[in-house]
Amino acid sequence: MAVTSIHGMWSTRLAFILAASGSAVGLGNIWRFPYAAGEYGGGAFVLVYLICVAAIGIPIMMAEIMLGRRGRQSPINTMRTLTAQEGRAGSWQVVGWMGIVTAFLILSFYSVIAGWALAYVFRAAAGAFNGIDGVAAGEIFASLVGDAERLLAWHTIFMAMVVLVVSRGVASGLEKAVRYLMPALFVLLVVMVIYAASAGDFAGAIDYLFAPDFEKFKGHAGEAILSAMGQAFFSLSLGMGAIMIYGSYLGRDASIARNSVIVASMDTLVALLAGLAIFPVVFANGLAPDSGPGLIFQTLPIAFGEMPGGQLFGALFFVLLVFAAWTSAISLLEPLVAWLVENLSFSRVRASILAGLTVWLLGIACLLSLNEWSGFTVFGKGILDLFDFLTANILLPLGGILIAIFAGWKMARASSLDELRLGEGLVYRAWRMLIRYVAPTAVMLVMLNALGILKLIGLD
Ligand code: PHE
Repeated sequence: MAVTSIHGMWSTRLAFILAASGSAVGLGNIWRFPYAAGEYGGGAFVLVYLICVAAIGIPIMMAEIMLGRRGRQSPINTMRTLTAQEGRAGSWQVVGWMGIVTAFLILSFYSVIAGWALAYVFRAAAGAFNGIDGVAAGEIFASLVGDAERLLAWHTIFMAMVVLVVSRGVASGLEKAVRYLMPALFVLLVVMVIYAASAGDFAGAIDYLFAPDFEKFKGHAGEAILSAMGQAFFSLSLGMGAIMIYGSYLGRDASIARNSVIVASMDTLVALLAGLAIFPVVFANGLAPDSGPGLIFQTLPIAFGEMPGGQLFGALFFVLLVFAAWTSAISLLEPLVAWLVENLSFSRVRASILAGLTVWLLGIACLLSLNEWSGFTVFGKGILDLFDFLTANILLPLGGILIAIFAGWKMARASSLDELRLGEGLVYRAWRMLIRYVAPTAVMLVMLNALGILKLIGLD
């Protein structure tokens, strides 16, 4: 069993925590969580989300880190090595391949949204938000997403930033960046929450986010629960190998369970803070919480336009949002780049450019779906929305099921005991129960339920 990865290792355990949180904390928390919660009525969604993080997310995160650290390669080759070690079918490598496809799809739209954030840095700094109301904020947003050329420029810049860091290697480029940026983002988010608490409808937001009203699930409960679960996978970066490959750079002496709990807690905290920063502004300005993917881009600018120093705060906020997206995007590209280096002997630079270019091309389809191709829909969704839905709600959970089954059933008990190093105690037994029974069945049921199958067989 390899002791280190050929791609390098995190210099310290803290570096792993920062990098894994950097992967987890991103647009998923600040852009996606509030709009998904808004689409499904708030509190009930948040509750289901929190349950999913605890009962499914943390056990699967532990499994991913465990597999990665044991295999010490790209997810595809890690699965190859582990299946050989455990005497299992090589077809389990499909976990790695599926992860690559998923990463491509996610990053292609992720980069477009990160491009919105980039564009907003300059708008905020130039004072474009000063004194605007909800209507003006909506117009600023609409004029950006309606402009394909502009979106292309920002998407290109963002992908170039991602390729740049990945080509330098994770340990040297990324490690240094996350050390300062993650805490800074956190502080700024707290400032935003304090502002929202003083100037917005804070009580309304608390009520909206934390008082579960299952009435709002009526009629689309299956879909709402699937979305909450999908959000948990997306936000924690689970089910496609990102956390697995970060685990492959983690030293043998680190506690997988403790690190997983820390990363998942930070991720959840940031999502909740984002909700508390956004919904008070939404309610105070009479905006609709279910206005979809544009939500934060149509609400936060109003707050920045009103608050003292908002020009600076606004610019800073979007800068940090870009950084959060950056540290996540890197983890989406890394599994494929590592595989290209391992299997095709590409240099890291060549591998990063090739992978980045492919994603960039796919991203063009996503950004065109917002304007020129807006008439083209599949299942009623444009390409960007479709990729978003397909990856978070289907591909990541499916990857998660496979990872759970492999870690819980196909891997020898002795192997997971050895890698998790928890002893035979309660924590290990709880993990094993969650990963063998709870996670796979829950994810499967939620997916089947959303397809309406439980209704068909009379279980719902
Ligand atoms: N977790 C990231 C976010 O919340 C997105 C992501 C998904 C990153 C899957 C890696 C893998 O923004």
